[in-house]
Order: sequence, then C-alpha cells, then structure tokens
Amino acid sequence: MSERLQKVIAHAGIASRRKAETLITSGHVKVNGEVVTELGTKVTSADEVKVDEVPISKETLVYYLLYKPRGVITAVTDDKHRKTVVDILKEVPERIYPVGRLDYDTSGLLLLTNDGDLDNKLTHPKYEVEKTYVAKVKGIVTNDDLKQLRTGVVIDHRKTAKAKTKLIRTNKESSIVSLTIHEGRNHQVKNMFEKIGHPVEKLSRETYGFLDLHGLQAGEYRRLKPHEVEELKELSDNTKR
Ligand code: URA
Repeated sequence: MSERLQKVIAHAGIASRRKAETLITSGHVKVNGEVVTELGTKVTSADEVKVDEVPISKETLVYYLLYKPRGVITAVTDDKHRKTVVDILKEVPERIYPVGRLDYDTSGLLLLTNDGDLDNKLTHPKYEVEKTYVAKVKGIVTNDDLKQLRTGVVIDHRKTAKAKTKLIRTNKESSIVSLTIHEGRNHQVKNMFEKIGHPVEKLSRETYGFLDLHGLQAGEYRRLKPHEVEELKELSDNTKR
C-alpha cells in the first residue's frame, strides 16, 4: 500500500508532519536516489527514502489495544493541553498514534499503532470493520426505532449502511442499546440516535472486529498478540466491499 511521503517521514519519528513537508519542499528528501520536492508523492515500503542522505529507519511495528476512558482526547497532541490517548501509553517508545477516533466523552476500545499501512486499511471506508457500541440513550427505545437504525437513517444527506441492534434494557427514562456498524463517520452513533429522537447520554465501544475489552479496566492497555495482528490484517484484506 502506498502512502504520502510526508506521512512516512513523520511516522519514522524524524519530524512532525508539517516539518516533514518543509523537508520535502526544500529538497532534503530523496526517494530511490532522486530528490523529490512534490508533497503528494506516494511511496511504498519498497521505496528507499533518505532525509539528508540518511535512510529513514523503519521502526519496529507495534500494536496496542487501549480501554480509552472518558475525558481523554483521541489525538497525539492537543492544543488545549487536554490529556491524550498517547499520554496514557507514554511508556511506549515508538511513535504510535490512534487508529480512527473515539469522542472525548466516549470510552472503549481503541487501537494504537505505528503501522501506517494497517491504519490506512482499517480506517478506509472501503475496508471498515465491524464495531459494536453500547449506548445509554434518552427515552424508551421501541422496536420501530431499532428497525430504523438497522435499515439506515439519513445523516448529512446520506443513508447509513445496514446495522445490527439489540435492546439491552430500559428503565423509566432511558434505554441501553447495542449498535453494531461498519462505517466510521464522524459522531456516527450519536447522530444515528439523535436522528431517531433518542440522544446519547453515554457511549462506549465494546468491540472492534474480533477484539474486545476483556480483562482491561478503563485506562489500561495491552499489546496485541501476534496472531491478533495477523487476524486484523486479514480482516482488513477480507472486508473489501
Ligand atoms: N460514534 C460516535 O458518535 N462517537 C464515537 O466516539 C464513536 C462513534
């Protein structure tokens, strides 16, 4: 899979994305022996990239599963100095970053890696994997509401893809619903429930493909096992739609 040159340089830990762009446009970067100054240039892992004649090191690829707590931002750094998911994994020496995102007030399963190929595949709309969310929503959700979620609701002029639902329980004023989707639009779950008149009060992502939060508390993380990494790669290869 090809990636933009500035992203590859940034991921190799040499510079931020912006600094990497400057390195490229100012002629410091060679691809397969040729100076490249075009920012859009795509490279693959087969290409040799050098910055000031030094080949960029190919970092060991690492994969982590985090049980993201609420009140943490899904980013590497934050202008407003809020705690980020990468701050939680500060012991990890590699330059990892989150795969996709969970909202500040959403908890649950989040992958972090420095594997740009896998990140691209997992977050590309064409490959999106199934994710299950559990939402506490306002009001009593009816079978009809669930059917709407399953068949698709229109958000930003576009119908959501087929989904799976399960009503876990209701009490006087709220309902707990599990919703499984494979798209990854911005605030998708909140927007879907908002659309059917049941705003989300609390949201958690319980599964990502075959992965779940088993054995972890909010704020804890673990390395993925080699067979899980393999399975994730297969998953993203097999879910081409
Ligand atoms: N959908 C949302 O609305 N928020 C999330 O954090 C994830 C999915």
